[in-house]
Amino acid sequence: MTPEELDAAISKAADYLKVARRVAVLTGAGVSAESGIPTFRASDGLWEGHRIEDVASPDGFYRDPKLVWQFYGGRRANVATAKPNPGHLALVALEDRWGEDFTLVTQNVDGLHQDAGSRRVLEIHGSLRRTLCLKCDEVQDRGLGPLGDAPECHCGGRLRPDIVWFGEGLPVDIWEEAQIKASECDVLLVVGTSAVVHPAASLIPIARQTRTPGAKVIEVNMTRTEASALADVGLYGPSGQVLPRLVKRLGA
Ligand code: APR
Repeated sequence: MTPEELDAAISKAADYLKVARRVAVLTGAGVSAESGIPTFRASDGLWEGHRIEDVASPDGFYRDPKLVWQFYGGRRANVATAKPNPGHLALVALEDRWGEDFTLVTQNVDGLHQDAGSRRVLEIHGSLRRTLCLKCDEVQDRGLGPLGDAPECHCGGRLRPDIVWFGEGLPVDIWEEAQIKASECDVLLVVGTSAVVHPAASLIPIARQTRTPGAKVIEVNMTRTEASALADVGLYGPSGQVLPRLVKRLGA
């Protein structure tokens, strides 16, 4: 995309937003890339060196919980030193403008949206900061400090990360709300996701098709993705630069 094309696309996206009553956003790992958090599917991505089924599946955890906790310990330590970037902050500015008519659905587990100040966040894939006890089911916010490679609950049960792994269902209430928000919005902003993981990516067709006319879909990504064919406009560049420009173009 040339600088002129990007500029025209930002204007078009701002025009969609200006007339939107309700706005929903779906974010993925790309929104945190400029905070120094690796994405999953880049060649140097998070799964590199690990098989997904070893570190992000219930079977993998059953086979080798220490390996899984070492992997998540590394991720937690990485996030502990990370800060929200201008892309996260631009999404806070959008929430300030739309208030309760704004929802941010994130596939990210890093909590950087909340660190930036986002309030209406639906974490559909869980959080790195929480643990889930396999014995008493208690979910606890543990922050980002070290937990070791065999953390235990106060009840003596084994803890796992409160993360949705491959082969697992999404948290029912949160996922239901995400679908409702996607089906009700006038604009869906899809930021920094390869849009290959379902059901998360199905929020895009849900937004487009549930009502007539469906929502306008704005994609923000470094490259075209699985979502691009469903997007009304694509803003191809780093979200930490593109989103602040979009907010500025929207004006006060
Ligand atoms: N700005 C915008 N987009 C970016 C940037 C950036 N600075 N850097 C990378 N991207 C884009 C990539 O082009 C890619 O399309 O971010 C996307 C990241 O894609 P994935 O690594 O596949 O991450 P995501 O879509 O969030 O993965 C979805 O898969 O592994 C599971 O549960 C995990 O939530 C995750 C889900």
